[in-house]
Amino acid sequence: MTTMAVLPGANREALARQLQEARVRTLLLIEPLTEEELRAQHDPLMSPIIWDLGHIAHFEELWLTRNLDGPIEFVEMPGLFNPFEHPRSERGRLRLPNVRECLEVMDQIRRRVMERLESADWDASNPLLQGGYVYNMVLQHEYQHNETMLQTLQLKQGRHYTPVQRFEPVTRGGAGVAPVSPEDIIRFAGGEVEVGTSDRSAAYDNERSRHTVYLPPFWIDRYPVTNADYAGFIAAGGYTTRKYWSDAGWAWVAETGAQAPMYWDWRDGGWHTRSMDRSAPVEPSHPVCHVCYHEAEAFARFAGKRLPTEFEWEAAASWDASTHTKVTYPWGEQLPSRTIANIDQLSFGTAPVGSYEQNVSPLGCYGMIGDVWEWTSSDFRPYPGFQSFPYAEYSEAFFGAEYKVLRGGSWATRPGAVRNTFRNWDYPVRRQIFSGFRCALDD
Ligand SMILES: [Fe+2]
Repeated sequence: MTTMAVLPGANREALARQLQEARVRTLLLIEPLTEEELRAQHDPLMSPIIWDLGHIAHFEELWLTRNLDGPIEFVEMPGLFNPFEHPRSERGRLRLPNVRECLEVMDQIRRRVMERLESADWDASNPLLQGGYVYNMVLQHEYQHNETMLQTLQLKQGRHYTPVQRFEPVTRGGAGVAPVSPEDIIRFAGGEVEVGTSDRSAAYDNERSRHTVYLPPFWIDRYPVTNADYAGFIAAGGYTTRKYWSDAGWAWVAETGAQAPMYWDWRDGGWHTRSMDRSAPVEPSHPVCHVCYHEAEAFARFAGKRLPTEFEWEAAASWDASTHTKVTYPWGEQLPSRTIANIDQLSFGTAPVGSYEQNVSPLGCYGMIGDVWEWTSSDFRPYPGFQSFPYAEYSEAFFGAEYKVLRGGSWATRPGAVRNTFRNWDYPVRRQIFSGFRCALDD
């Protein structure tokens, strides 16, 4: 027997508002783009933006109409927008709809989703609906594709992407104005800590379940590694010194000829970089961004340190050793916003480390959420007792040693898609993502 209940009006309104807000942002990001720019494949690493748009809509249709109507036997995404049928590098050759058609489809699907939300009984026994899970999943999916679109827009060929709306990130307070010392490293006393979450309303399957792990004592940087730190590594011959690199890392250097983070170029006697449409000398006090795992690992070795494991990272972001409790965000339980951390996209770049005074963890680490995703040394693996939900292609298909875990979220991450337990993963050679790191050290 199923328990049928009507979704309370307040929740329904909140969900409708959030869906609407997510869409407003998606459309804001594409507003400056021409039809041609939306349909072009700017880089083999990324989809044409029009594909992301179609995929966002069809994912929403799949989960908020068809799969909700049960019996729960999940159907597949229509072929054109199924990421597993079409790898990114091929998506530029697909017969994609034009922009008008695509926007119409997005609207039609959204209308059906809203009708479903208004009229449907809320079947409390449906695990997709518990705690509004499936709505949160679809929202996070759109947020995550927004960040993917920003990676594409940063890579974009031709004229640079100029945002229609932006806010300047906070650039003072904390350590933002003072040089950061590499000795600014904090000791974690070790012991048993809780990692992961058992939340079923918003967390993804790969974040579950909350469980206890033992961590030996370790040290972790108070701030992410800055551009100044990283420029020091380059100046010291970092890219030409074999001993800093793993075998795979050294092979990557040889193959790519990399000599600096992506988007850096040396001119007029200094490093310059570009973030979206703004090109400027590299800001020494900002966290380094657009480095791959191999570069992060090599820097750490150069500095006499190492990368943290994902659990060390999570403990440093969330564990309050004085009370043996865990916080959802480094600063506590207050929902993320752009006044607390450099997140939510519209700053279109990083801020000096330590700028956000509230963005400090119980241990004393700054900026663990926001600015840049942080590489960890961990492979992407399931937690004990992992259960795939609601579909294996979100996490399970990616488990293994091929991918490294990143934590924390970047300036391009929306507030609804960050938390201390959130796990991102990518290939160790990827650096079009908004990725940086901080180092750790054995006791
Ligand atoms: Fe997707």
